[in-house]
Amino acid sequence: MKVDVLLGLQWGDEGKGKVVDVLTPRYDVVARFQGGPNAGHTLEFEGQKYVLRSIPSGIFQGNKVNIIGNGVVLDPSLFKAEAEALEASGHPLKERLHISKKAHLILPTHRILDAAYEAAKGAAKVGTTGKGIGPTYTDKVSRTGLRVGDILCHFEEKYAAAKARHEQILKSLNYEYDITELEKQWLEGIEYLRTFHLVDSEHEINNLLKDGKSVLCEGAQGTMLDVDFGSYPFVTSSNTICAGACTGLGLGPNKIGEVYGIMKAYCTRVGAGPFPTELFDETGKTIRALGHEYGAVTGRERRCGWVDLVALRYSIMVNGVTQLILMKSDVLDAFDTIKACVAYKVNGEEIDYFPYDITEGVEPIYVEMPGWKTDMTKMTSEDEFPEEFNAYISFLEEQLGTPVKIVSVGPDREQTIERYTEK
Ligand code: GDP
Ligand code: IMO
Ligand code: MG
Repeated sequence: MKVDVLLGLQWGDEGKGKVVDVLTPRYDVVARFQGGPNAGHTLEFEGQKYVLRSIPSGIFQGNKVNIIGNGVVLDPSLFKAEAEALEASGHPLKERLHISKKAHLILPTHRILDAAYEAAKGAAKVGTTGKGIGPTYTDKVSRTGLRVGDILCHFEEKYAAAKARHEQILKSLNYEYDITELEKQWLEGIEYLRTFHLVDSEHEINNLLKDGKSVLCEGAQGTMLDVDFGSYPFVTSSNTICAGACTGLGLGPNKIGEVYGIMKAYCTRVGAGPFPTELFDETGKTIRALGHEYGAVTGRERRCGWVDLVALRYSIMVNGVTQLILMKSDVLDAFDTIKACVAYKVNGEEIDYFPYDITEGVEPIYVEMPGWKTDMTKMTSEDEFPEEFNAYISFLEEQLGTPVKIVSVGPDREQTIERYTEK
């Protein structure tokens, strides 16, 4: 019996997809527990690049069971496009992908409502991915949502009722839209979804655990986007933290073992909202260019800045992180100096904890360290790490009170180095 959880500690896009793929051979099951097609998880191996949105990143390594859990919101038309592309590229998934009947469906009108609400907010908009995430989770909590299991029974009536309700809201907002094409593709997606294993995934996953199988839970987004603990209201609409794996899959908290926290060696954010260590200068632009920091889903420029240890300590705390995975260290290979934010100055006072509100008046206090000025992308062992990089890792471990067990030095599956291994 073993459930480990892997999740992002910053504002998403930390490299979760890559590491889930790397770790998959050690597990029997990989499961997504929250979020939906707002996620874009990139994997690279054998010269190929894949971006996954709703399908777990355990789909490529061996014949593992991959589960889309009840906490996920699923758009049938986007799911169909994603699954068909994978099948066409020689990665069959029909037999190994199991979808919870309790996962909620993103309707075409949820996507339109997402756009309408953003337009109504004007300058205060969240900068969502436009995939209908907020409206779908709103319906779930309001007890008016449609679930995957609903497609098996009186579906047409249920869909018509939900659509009519959404149309009323859109009318009240005076929002103009054309649903025809979106709905056509969505209904085709519903028929496609019927051809998959639609399961009671909470039973399945607990039975697998009883049989001695191990599970890796794949988080989406990041802790700073969590609906409770993130930079509210500039967050997503689900619990991205470790506890989300319990509610999003039907797992008791006593089943959780390791909690892998993923962080970049710097920090990025896409969409609106506060970002204390954001860089607006040439350094920020250089990080964006070297790290190819553009959204995997929307193509939007990601905002870039130095690593924020105040926010990371908070993320580690609310998730119970047991080990860190340090991503994209190679992006800083050419820098003369590296900075890390160790505390904030708020109203003239220095604090080392993450405050209630980071919207304004938060000034980062930095520690500056020498860069390593070495190309690390071809390194295969920690023995090759330059002295300055080792010093940077030790500094992070000390500041964060958590060991860095994996270091990623490039996007490829192979560019992954484990630390603390038996020599
Ligand atoms: P996710 O949403 O957390 O899975 O992350 P994304 O896929 O949205 O963004 C991470 C990006 O960084 C992708 O383009 C990855 O291919 C890339 N990447 C992952 N790890 C590394 C790394 O160690 N170095 C570099 N240079 N790129 C990486
Ligand atoms: P992965 O899993 C980065 C951001 C959006 C927006 C906010 C709310 O690839 O790390 P939503 O569409 O969820 O209502 O948007 O959250 N956001 C992400 N940012 N990576 C993601 O996923 C994200 N998913 C949502 O940009 O600011
Ligand atoms: Mg991403």
